[in-house]
Amino acid sequence: MKLKLIFPCLIFLLYAGCTTTPKYSEVKQQLEKTDTIREIPVPDYAKGAEGHVGSKVCKICHPAHYAGWKTTYHSKMIQDPKSPGALVADFSVKSEHRTFNLEDVDLLVGSRFKQRFMKKIGNDYYMLPAQWNVTDKKWARYFPQDEWWNNYYPQDWKQRPTSLLCDGCHTTGLIKTGNKFAEWNIACESCHGPGGDHANAPGLENIVNPAKLPLDRANDVCFSCHLENTIPAEFWEKHGVRGYPVGYKPGDDLTNYKLPAPFIPGNEGNVFFRSGVGKKNRTQGNDFIHSTMHKRGIKCFSCHNPHNGKYTAMVYKPGNALCLMCHGESSPSGPYVRNITEHTHHKPESPGSQCIECHMPRIGKNAAPLESRSHIFNFEYMSPVQTIVYDQPNACNRCHQDKTPQWALNALKSWGGKGKWSWNSVLHVLPETTKQ
Ligand code: HEC
Ligand code: HEC
Ligand code: HEC
Ligand code: HEC
Ligand code: HEC
Ligand code: HEC
Ligand code: HEC
Ligand code: HEC
Repeated sequence: MKLKLIFPCLIFLLYAGCTTTPKYSEVKQQLEKTDTIREIPVPDYAKGAEGHVGSKVCKICHPAHYAGWKTTYHSKMIQDPKSPGALVADFSVKSEHRTFNLEDVDLLVGSRFKQRFMKKIGNDYYMLPAQWNVTDKKWARYFPQDEWWNNYYPQDWKQRPTSLLCDGCHTTGLIKTGNKFAEWNIACESCHGPGGDHANAPGLENIVNPAKLPLDRANDVCFSCHLENTIPAEFWEKHGVRGYPVGYKPGDDLTNYKLPAPFIPGNEGNVFFRSGVGKKNRTQGNDFIHSTMHKRGIKCFSCHNPHNGKYTAMVYKPGNALCLMCHGESSPSGPYVRNITEHTHHKPESPGSQCIECHMPRIGKNAAPLESRSHIFNFEYMSPVQTIVYDQPNACNRCHQDKTPQWALNALKSWGGKGKWSWNSVLHVLPETTKQ
């Protein structure tokens, strides 16, 4: 689908007076004001992703969605180092790990937790071997050694192309086509599927709205990138050993394209702790499928708004307000208490009364350990018992670092628990010897 063919149609449609479409002149003005970020062109060899038109075309008729998406990190994953504000790494900080200079960097990857650096060599990009950790403002070595695909690639960063190992999840279109993409970054068509037909003849039938998909297919849209995976061997011959599920598009059954990273109960690898809870970033899907919320039809986008980056991590509401949309005093989903302190045993305004600090604690590694938030929700996985039995982090000692897990467990026990909130469920994995 070529842009040249689409534009006359669009202009026709706009003149035809479609009520939901704003005037192009108005939109153009608004966007000239907001579009300060330098566009990174798609390299010639990757141009022409079939069926895709790119977010600039969607923006003509959906300017509010476009403007909102532009405020999210999805629109800023791959940036030009010269774009204002894009470079968060400090190249004046010296480090033995950093063997390159800013002049060697062609593109930036990420900016929230860590920043990595792409170098173009021939018709592909490669990851320079150091990263910037945002929180502790330090350089660290970057050379993957524990990814599932590690044995299939040489121990040389110049022989690990990002087109095979990364770009499917950092561009729009490549995941579907395998060799072409419509734009850098996670844009409209990453979640709505190729939009060429829809842009030519807008309608509800020819574009995917994830909210109208059955539960599993809906979450698959996010899981395609946000779930640690392996790729079935039958795909290797055709596509090479890739890090992402080639061929998938929103609406498809993702299980045909990738498998969740394997977990052996009681074993610790680089993806999971011994209980099975995620140990690193990008495990939101792996975690969430264990939650009662998943079983009850809650989706990633019940909490996250893909078209608004106003609050941290694009949540619909900040702090406890997000959870209280569905939980609280009279909610059938619990917790079964009259006020927050009765549930949390911390003062209402205490950090210890923030739902996510106990149910989504930062226990996974992102750039640094204890940075990435768990998405398993069930407190059993966060209990001090897990530290005592499995030597993995728990919610309580994330804050109470000067206390032992046994101290936290004793405090929990002293709080009692009633109704459905009975402590038995927290304690049942405790070996006989430590059960008082
Ligand atoms: C020429 C204008 C136009 C363009 C370009 C356009 N849309 Fe639409 N879109 C519409 C209209 C009009 C509707 C509402 C259709 C209706 O109610 O029948 C719509 C509806 C939608 C819906 C809701 C579908 C549903 O089932 O609820 C989504 C999602 C969507 N568009 C996404 C996109 C994406 C992504 C792009 C770019 C690939 C895009 N649109 C490009 C005009 C456009
Ligand atoms: C990260 C995934 C993601 C991206 C990127 C994304 N969307 Fe959406 N979009 C969704 C989801 C999920 C819904 C359903 C939201 C709901 O109803 O809860 C949706 C709904 C919509 C709708 C239907 C109306 C509505 O708000 O419910 C339109 C129109 C739309 N998106 C347009 C766009 C356009 C245009 C872009 C790019 C500028 C875009 N989206 C980028 C995931 C995404
Ligand atoms: C299967 C999809 C997928 C693949 C393959 C993938 N990533 Fe990502 N990447 C993601 C997702 C999703 C996130 C956000 C996860 C999170 O915050 O937990 C992310 C986050 C990141 C971040 C951190 C962004 C920030 O702002 O802090 C960097 C850097 C990164 N990826 C680099 C890479 C590199 C380099 C490769 C290839 C070796 C790669 N990724 C392969 C999906 C993927
Ligand atoms: C019940 C609400 C809820 C659901 C469901 C949910 N999240 Fe989150 N998510 C959050 C909250 C709250 C945060 C953290 C916000 C903050 O730090 O202030 C978060 C953070 C994140 C982050 C940022 C990385 C981090 O470690 O903080 C990513 C990425 C993410 N969620 C992806 C997902 C995906 C993908 C799904 C579906 C598998 C999902 N979320 C389901 C509430 C939810
Ligand atoms: C094509 C791959 C892809 C898809 C599809 C995708 N994401 Fe992401 N997501 C990413 C990457 C990569 C990042 C890291 C972006 C960055 O740090 O710049 C990210 C970051 C996030 C974050 C953290 C943003 C922040 O402010 O820290 C949330 C939350 C999130 N995604 C939720 C979702 C949800 C919900 C869906 C499904 C509706 C979804 N994503 C679909 C790749 C994807
Ligand atoms: C869109 C509605 C919705 C939102 C928003 C929501 N929840 Fe839930 N939650 C549910 C439902 C439904 C259940 C299942 C209740 C049941 O069947 O017992 C549930 C269950 C839970 C459970 C039980 C344990 C488990 O395995 O899942 C916890 C803990 C929980 N939610 C925490 C949270 C937190 C923390 C937030 C905010 C970050 C939140 N929820 C936001 C609907 C929601
Ligand atoms: C200080 C830690 C802490 C905080 C903060 C916290 N919870 Fe919990 N929550 C727990 C523990 C511990 C359990 C497990 C009780 C059990 O298994 O018997 C639990 C269980 C739950 C359950 C499961 C249903 C039930 O009552 O057993 C829900 C739902 C829940 N919490 C929601 C929330 C919400 C919503 C918030 C914020 C308003 C919140 N929690 C804040 C510790 C906390
Ligand atoms: C987000 C940080 C945070 C988390 C998570 C947290 N607490 Fe606290 N806790 C505090 C703070 C701050 C105080 C000081 C009093 C207050 O604010 O209510 C406190 C006070 C306490 C106290 C009384 C004072 C003391 O030090 O003897 C106990 C007991 C306690 N917490 C136990 C727990 C247990 C058990 C958990 C896990 C279920 C937990 N806390 C989770 C921050 C936290």
